[in-house]
Amino acid sequence: MTSGRLITFEGIDGSGKTTQALRIQSDLERAGRQVLYLREPGGTRIGERIRAILLDRDHVDMSLESEILLFAAARAQIVRELVLPALQEGTIVLLDRFTDSTVAYQGYGRGIPLDTAKALNRFAAGSLEPDLTFLIDLPVDVALSRTGRRTGQVDRLDVEDTAFHERVRQGYLRMAEENPRRFRVLDGEKDEDSLALDIQTILKEGIVT
Ligand code: TYD
Repeated sequence: MTSGRLITFEGIDGSGKTTQALRIQSDLERAGRQVLYLREPGGTRIGERIRAILLDRDHVDMSLESEILLFAAARAQIVRELVLPALQEGTIVLLDRFTDSTVAYQGYGRGIPLDTAKALNRFAAGSLEPDLTFLIDLPVDVALSRTGRRTGQVDRLDVEDTAFHERVRQGYLRMAEENPRRFRVLDGEKDEDSLALDIQTILKEGIVT
């Protein structure tokens, strides 16, 4: 049995989820909670090496199958090495992307059968499910114009077109509809402070008090 809480942050690239997750981390720490922020893919020594393989722009020939298995491999490592031990100690774990990213990107985005993506998630993450998932939703053109403003470092996964990101966005929204108990959909077009306030309110009302 785990006694901590697993809270995940999901959304298309440029949704602002990392900014929000890091804000929540400092808020919770200031309130005296033990918190761990991690990002996927990566977070562990092995996971960061897998991340580098995944994002490398030279790897244009990476097959869909290799891609999803590498995401699963990074996940299997972070879950066992960091997430489960932290939860067992009662830590609140904030995960910047988790299993829903695989269903959204490799499943809805790239067309890997959803059942396959979900089965790989179950293998990689075991029975671990988030207690709460914040989906920061916003129109693709708004999100992409934000990522365009980031300092020119485009990786292999950033080069996808608008239609791809639209499928990912719609996939996320579908998942949120199917799991209303776990998902909270937030308006990513709001300014940073209002969004942070929305997240704090949800956390106070819910599982993290
Ligand atoms: P990252 O630079 O961390 O982007 P972001 O700040 O948007 O999270 O790169 C992660 C990329 O990997 C992002 O484009 C989403 C993608 N991804 C998948 O396609 N499948 C997955 O399972 C995960 C975890 C991420």
